[in-house]
Amino acid sequence: MTGISYVDGRYVSHAEAFVHMEDRGYQFADGVYEVIAVYGGKLVDEASHLDRLERSLSEVGIAFPGSRASLGIVLREMMRRNRLKHGSLYLQVTRGVARRDHAYVDAMRPVLTVAVRRATPPLRSASLAGYRVISIPDIRWKRCDIKSVGLLPNILGKKQAMRAGAAEAWMIDEAGMVTEGTTSNAWIVTATGELVTRYLDEGILPGVTRRALIGFAERAQMPVVQRAFSLAEAKTAREAFYTSATAILRPVIQIDETKIGDGVVGPVARRLVDAYFDALETV
Ligand code: PDD
Repeated sequence: MTGISYVDGRYVSHAEAFVHMEDRGYQFADGVYEVIAVYGGKLVDEASHLDRLERSLSEVGIAFPGSRASLGIVLREMMRRNRLKHGSLYLQVTRGVARRDHAYVDAMRPVLTVAVRRATPPLRSASLAGYRVISIPDIRWKRCDIKSVGLLPNILGKKQAMRAGAAEAWMIDEAGMVTEGTTSNAWIVTATGELVTRYLDEGILPGVTRRALIGFAERAQMPVVQRAFSLAEAKTAREAFYTSATAILRPVIQIDETKIGDGVVGPVARRLVDAYFDALETV
């Protein structure tokens, strides 16, 4: 990556964007993050991402770095300095720098870092390719609602998917239910045309894209049900897809060795992608 990054109060060249080795994010994964898409020079769903950041921080007892307003200024300044039109911003807040000790001291000064990722603008048509996913056991901790930088199970799962020639891995809990993808939320469309995505609790990340799409679906009077669904049900679904800020919506045409529906991108996925892009292009 080139360009300008933000490290603990300073804008620096990305090549010199270093944090201290005793940053607790580095030693303990003691930190949280957000990935916010940038489209046409604008932050997509900024308020929802900052709400979730605030919640993640408060759940682990890390102070918000400055104020929401000052963070908004840093994010905009990063887009300006990097002349970022399309891509994403990665922002991370760790508990801060201290001598290594599991027991942290209260009221540490959090460390904020921000980096940009440039990308070609997403295209509706690109979202309409079909993707394969594999299923893997969900071996994560019991607070997946917190967007923690501790992502070992996710990165191992994603790598396993890549090795299998798939784009994503869906994680399966002990009851055989799909929780979510390693970097995305999971959805299916049932034979009766119901859109199903898992309910929110501590088992999954409350995806910002998930939430936006539920809104679009409801406004279009498409039936949405938030409930758990099993891997077996997903394999017999009419459609399946997954969503995230950077991937937007990816239709799933195969899970493990099973073809989904007719093995092509379905009409519900198409409608949702259209609704999402219509909103994106009118902001
Ligand atoms: N990942 N679930 C997990 C485990 C995720 O890591 C993500 C996002 C999502 C989707 O959330 P959202 O719609 O708010 O992006 C669900 C980001 C993109 C990442 O880690 O890069």
